[in-house]
Amino acid sequence: MISLISGSMSDNSNTKLLLEMIGENIRGKGGDVNIFSVRDLNLEMFTPDKPRNSNFQEKLNTICQSEAIVFGSPEYHGSFSGALKNFLDHLVIDDLKGIVVGIVSTSGSSYCGANTLNSLRIILRNFHTYTINRQLSLSEKELSNMNDHVKLKIHHFTEELLNEISLRKRY
Ligand SMILES: Cc1cc2nc3c(=O)[nH]c(=O)nc-3n(C[C@H](O)[C@H](O)[C@H](O)COP(=O)(O)O)c2cc1C
Repeated sequence: MISLISGSMSDNSNTKLLLEMIGENIRGKGGDVNIFSVRDLNLEMFTPDKPRNSNFQEKLNTICQSEAIVFGSPEYHGSFSGALKNFLDHLVIDDLKGIVVGIVSTSGSSYCGANTLNSLRIILRNFHTYTINRQLSLSEKELSNMNDHVKLKIHHFTEELLNEISLRKRY
């Protein structure tokens, strides 16, 4: 099972839409997906002194047992969303250690999203994940006009994610 986690708090989220399209590709290859947004978790702001609540721990157990995780975020002021950072702050290294990860973003402008993905990549390195090189950054325009070029980008991203999963299984 592959978890696809959106860092958007929006009602009609572009990021969730992108993750659903990736999910469709994964299902097409016979994989199972678990798609949700951090907003569904109703997480409080992370406070180091507070223990994890049992609902969150339960959800986290499913996430941590995933074959891979795809994190998606809208670009907010040149970086990924605070909601996703808050989710990550609730985790410890062992929660994500050794998991194959893919990262994607959506943004208002074309060719934005690089800083969003770079920031996310650095943080995931601290969690000792295997974040794949291929990443996706799509603009609102690209998402609303889903042409063959965009579909191919999503296809290549999914292929690389699935290849990395099978590569890691051999170790
Ligand atoms: C607070 C805020 C900051 C944003 N900052 C940027 C930005 O720096 N660059 C950009 O291209 N788009 C920016 N956007 C546009 C969003 O990245 C874009 O609409 C995204 O697709 C929203 O995703 P969502 O629908 O999943 O929340 C911003 C939007 C908001 C609400």
